[in-house]
Amino acid sequence: MKPIQVGLLGMGVVGSGTFNVLKRNQEEIRRRAGRGIEIIHVADLNVERVRSWVGPDVTVTSDARAVIANPDIDIVVELIGGCTIAKTLVLEAIAAGKHVVTANKALLAVHGTEIFAAASARGVMVAFEAAVAGGIPIIKALREGLTANRIEWVAGIINGTTNFILSEMRDKGQDFGVALQEAQRLGYAEADPTFDIEGIDAAHKATLISAIAFGIPVQFDRAHIEGITRLCAADIHYADQLGYRVKLLGMTKRTAHGVELRVHPCLIPSRRLIANVEGAMNAVVVQGDAVGTTLYYGKGAGSEPTASAVIADLVDMARLHTADAAQRVPHLAFQPNAMSDLAVLPMDQVVTSYYLRLRVADETGVLAKVTAILAQTGISIDAVLQRQAHEIGPANVAEVAEVAQTDVIILTHDCQEARMNAAMAQMQALPSVLQPIIRIRKEELA
Ligand code: HSE
Repeated sequence: MKPIQVGLLGMGVVGSGTFNVLKRNQEEIRRRAGRGIEIIHVADLNVERVRSWVGPDVTVTSDARAVIANPDIDIVVELIGGCTIAKTLVLEAIAAGKHVVTANKALLAVHGTEIFAAASARGVMVAFEAAVAGGIPIIKALREGLTANRIEWVAGIINGTTNFILSEMRDKGQDFGVALQEAQRLGYAEADPTFDIEGIDAAHKATLISAIAFGIPVQFDRAHIEGITRLCAADIHYADQLGYRVKLLGMTKRTAHGVELRVHPCLIPSRRLIANVEGAMNAVVVQGDAVGTTLYYGKGAGSEPTASAVIADLVDMARLHTADAAQRVPHLAFQPNAMSDLAVLPMDQVVTSYYLRLRVADETGVLAKVTAILAQTGISIDAVLQRQAHEIGPANVAEVAEVAQTDVIILTHDCQEARMNAAMAQMQALPSVLQPIIRIRKEELA
């Protein structure tokens, strides 16, 4: 059978990995796909660099539309990123009857509904394994491997940059700013790290996971997003003492009232496998009613790990290219006419447990006042830890000179976020509470 012909938009880190792995493993891939897969046309602004590198058999252009218009191209791989020109090009490729493979999580998390509808109407596929957790085949697992299950929740460390920073903070007792600088020096964090450290990249991925897990439309705008910029080494240290690790978690959960979709720092029991995922690695835990808990671990970024996911999509497309469109795996795992209208819950309706840290004046009755507020608000305490000023660290010694201070750390049982917000407002108003209360959510992942 004639090889399937691929056009590639953007020959950066992932594009070059895709080119290299396809070339290196072409025989193995052909045996799996049943036909060859060839990149024949590449669009990149740096034409000369790419031309010297891909050789004479590949046409190189700076005009992405020339690739889309090439009648020999069966599949367009979009590796440009972002939601502006990438969106236009993806929709044009679909309109031209090309299948699309993309690693663009932002594009699909924000505009997925429009893009998938356009693809279905045109009878083409849009595949995006590389958009979530890089080389980990989590889309494949959720859409196909776990298709028998009613998915209950999915929790993931789906941003390697922040996981690297949190690992550094824990290992070296560094504060966030220092660990970020180290991440930038080593090339894990970009010069503008906003998308990673503010949780936006993880929320794009969590949005896609949520849609596939529960058969709901992509709803990035309903996701609750908090990054790691306000975390202190002290909280990571206290969490450790209580038997927890702090991770930036992408969490989506089915409840009786709707779907939770949230990204925020989270305490996880240290004994869970996912709590021990360190450095820039990613991991996703899926809880299904039939299978129980499954865990997927691997590299969430990088040239060849991400290329591995791009090529997996190309092989799927090579196999399904001639199949009846109705028989293909649906974009969001559920048939488009069988999607659920389960609402994504506002954050104040989410139920979880909490770590609280209160910097208080070390005087009689403070703890009693704090615990009374929790009791009156109906919040049950799981554990309390108090640390004296000298244990807090040298940076705080100057502060404690005027008034003796102490950190009170409280772990709670589950309660609704609205109730916790009310309790925190009352505790914050106590004159003995000297600094803004630190609140980190906690998931047992049992
Ligand atoms: N910047 C991401 C990360 C990889 O740090 O995991 C691409 O989504």
